[in-house]
Amino acid sequence: MARVAIIGQGYVGLTISKFASKVHSVVGFDLNESLVTQLNAGVSHIEGIESVDLQASIKAGNYFATSKGSLLADCEILVIAVPTPLGSDRKPDLTYIESACKVIAENINRPVLIINESTSFPGTIRNYIKPAIEKYSKQKFDHMYAISPERVDPGREDFNQKNTPRLYAGLTPEATARTRDFYSTFCDNLVEVSSPEVAEAAKLFENTFRQVNIALVNELAQISHALGIDVRETLDAAGTKPYGFMKFAPSAGVGGHCIPVDPSYLADVAEKVGVEATFIKRANEVNLDMPKYIAGRIAKDNDGSIKGKKVLVVGVAYKPNVADTRETPAELLIGALKELGAVVSWNDSVVGKWHGSDSSPLADADIAVVVTKHDAVASEDILKSAPYVFDTTGKVKGAVQL
Ligand SMILES: NC(=O)c1ccc[n+]([C@@H]2O[C@H](COP(=O)([O-])OP(=O)(O)OC[C@H]3O[C@@H](n4cnc5c(N)ncnc54)[C@H](O)[C@@H]3O)[C@@H](O)[C@H]2O)c1
Repeated sequence: MARVAIIGQGYVGLTISKFASKVHSVVGFDLNESLVTQLNAGVSHIEGIESVDLQASIKAGNYFATSKGSLLADCEILVIAVPTPLGSDRKPDLTYIESACKVIAENINRPVLIINESTSFPGTIRNYIKPAIEKYSKQKFDHMYAISPERVDPGREDFNQKNTPRLYAGLTPEATARTRDFYSTFCDNLVEVSSPEVAEAAKLFENTFRQVNIALVNELAQISHALGIDVRETLDAAGTKPYGFMKFAPSAGVGGHCIPVDPSYLADVAEKVGVEATFIKRANEVNLDMPKYIAGRIAKDNDGSIKGKKVLVVGVAYKPNVADTRETPAELLIGALKELGAVVSWNDSVVGKWHGSDSSPLADADIAVVVTKHDAVASEDILKSAPYVFDTTGKVKGAVQL
């Protein structure tokens, strides 16, 4: 049993805390004090992490949350799980990583193992985290550094921390071995790679692969509509090929903290080494333009104008059955609909509150547009909410399909 600090108690950090606290003594460090209070009261804010599990770890004395950096002092292993967003220029923003490094460096009092699970570009642990820790340390320690990119898919039940293969690599053979020892206490399938850069690049490529394929299928949706072909039937037909094809679904765009963001980390590092990441740029354009395309289709179907019409956007979470609205395409869609003069409201019972306002009733609209369909929302209710319903998800039968 080791004393482990997990820096950041969001989707990733709390998920690791849940699994690690079955074996280790875990300090869940987060700067958000109200979140810390909530976690210490045994209330989870993450889908897939049951409050009862959190309460069991607290009761067993294997978990507590804190915002006090001084409580990191006795930890032997520190795992960084903080946001790695894009700045307003759509370039990597490592300020959260920097602040995590600062709090670690200022409080640890011994050589430790520092593992980064946050998604970032190849070279982050070697050229950014290690130098940042050294910069902020008052005392010189010989720390070990490793990367193990997180692959958690919040809300997913078939794959979790235990059975999802986990990539890892340290900056030194000792760091690699310690990292393997740590994760082997709660992960069944560990995959060692030859360098941290390979692990960091693999994580970015996994999500780039999805982003590019989603863009491709979104382009196919536009081509199919223009040709008068049902895109989903085409994809089902192509999907009958038992090899060499992988099915992706058209949508209003990509959302969440990963798919719209991670490829731009790869594009940025590519640019720095003189390679233009043309696929990534084009995929970004196609996905970011989907809301505009959808708003245009809706206007066309409604006598060429939605000016003054009451439009209800149904489902503002970026994917079904979660309350996460980060980078949701609903945001751009609302903007595109407003630009065409529509009076826009939104409904999402899972999200509840968004941008300071409450979810509107699923009723009384002229037009409804489904961006995300949660299981708890019945298709019949969506169809009853407006005389014209446009569905980007393929799940609401009887609605106009993307
Ligand atoms: N959410 C996912 O599905 C997912 C999956 C795989 C990888 N990732 C990656 O994992 C990382 C974390 O993502 P997330 O979804 O858990 O983010 P999140 O926003 O859910 O949680 C991050 C937490 O870190 C806290 N925080 C920020 N700076 C801090 C600091 N200096 N010290 C302590 N706490 C700090 C925030 O208060 C927040 O609670 C990102 O790099 C992301 O790309 C996310």
